Amino acid sequence: MLESDCPATWATFHAKGVLRNEYKHGVNLIHIESRPSARFPNQYEFMVECAPSGELGIAIETLREHSSYFNIISRNHKDNRGKLSKYTVPWFPRRIRDLDKFANQILSYGSELDADHPGFTDPVYRARRKYFADIAYNYKHGQPLPHVDYTAEETATWGSVFQELTKLYPTHACKEHNHVFPLLIENCGYREDNIPQLKDVSNFLKDCTGFTLRPVAGLLSSRDFLAGLAFRVFHSTQYIRHSSCPLYTPEPDVCHELLGHAPLFADPAFAQFSQEIGLASLGAPDEYIEKLATCFWFTVEFGLCRQDGQLKAYGAGLLSSFGELQYSLSGKPELKPFEPFKTAVQKYPITQYQPLYFVAESFEDAKEKMIKYASTIPRHFGVRYNPYTQSIELLDSKPQIEGLVENISQEIQILLDALRKL
Ligand SMILES: [Fe+2]
Repeated sequence: MLESDCPATWATFHAKGVLRNEYKHGVNLIHIESRPSARFPNQYEFMVECAPSGELGIAIETLREHSSYFNIISRNHKDNRGKLSKYTVPWFPRRIRDLDKFANQILSYGSELDADHPGFTDPVYRARRKYFADIAYNYKHGQPLPHVDYTAEETATWGSVFQELTKLYPTHACKEHNHVFPLLIENCGYREDNIPQLKDVSNFLKDCTGFTLRPVAGLLSSRDFLAGLAFRVFHSTQYIRHSSCPLYTPEPDVCHELLGHAPLFADPAFAQFSQEIGLASLGAPDEYIEKLATCFWFTVEFGLCRQDGQLKAYGAGLLSSFGELQYSLSGKPELKPFEPFKTAVQKYPITQYQPLYFVAESFEDAKEKMIKYASTIPRHFGVRYNPYTQSIELLDSKPQIEGLVENISQEIQILLDALRKL
């Protein structure tokens, strides 16, 4: 397979003695890796990253001719007419450390504020935002999550939000959120007078579902943000909204992430549902990325669900907004059942309360529907997350699938054995 990462190009392939062609065609190789092949027993596969240099097109064709398996994954996956090239898959991270590659390809830096932002004219706030953005910008996978000392003013802002929202959770939040919240108070320092540290929350989530948090310096593209979910990694902001408007924020902040998102990622069914959206996005065409991002919006951000005959909120945008949480369950907005084929094409406003919410029957049900929807995305390979290597496997050969089936039958034996002992 050949992978390409803008401005460089990545290639992975299985072939003998053809790399010298790359040199012959003046292609600049940035990185070469060899691994035992899962597709061809007892043989190797190579992954090559190259810059757009020399006669790259000819070199690719030569490699393709000499390879029994060949794939290109590229950031530049469109041809001159903006069409998806037949052989090129849009780039996506294959290993968890690849998330470092797009961490700094942000659409806007977290310290850049619009003129109507509550903190726009506050130089102290702007300096803090730059401090937080710089921390995230320099973060690399594997490093400890940065500890932040919040100021008294920031803690007071958190306190106002915490106080108002925790009044509503018992009646408005889904049971999964209410189940986990006391554990976050007990284990992660969730208190009115303390802003929890990302590190503590991330460690807690890792123990529950394997989800981890990663600081983000600004707005990621939908493709990159969703790709993180495939690894059970959630990109999280660490700064807090401006103190002048504690109950309003025009963008995600630490209140939104830790009060809205974090509790749900501790729930196994919800974690798996979120990961399914992420896996579906890997290598998907652009129009499907938009559809998956819309599904994410109407579920993980603004989802409602029915529990014991009552409507409850599980979306983080609702669970972190005092006003919209009440409004969403007031009977005023329109409600529709969550159905990815329809939800994915629903238009929505981003600066006001949602006029329409989608209601999930359960996270399990939503997950099954997402898996069904994902199977309609045009991709010539299947994907699977391997938690042992924290990497994505491209399933596009018989030996790989046979190996997986063998693993599953071993697992079934273990389960049957355990059942017999009960
Ligand atoms: Fe969010």
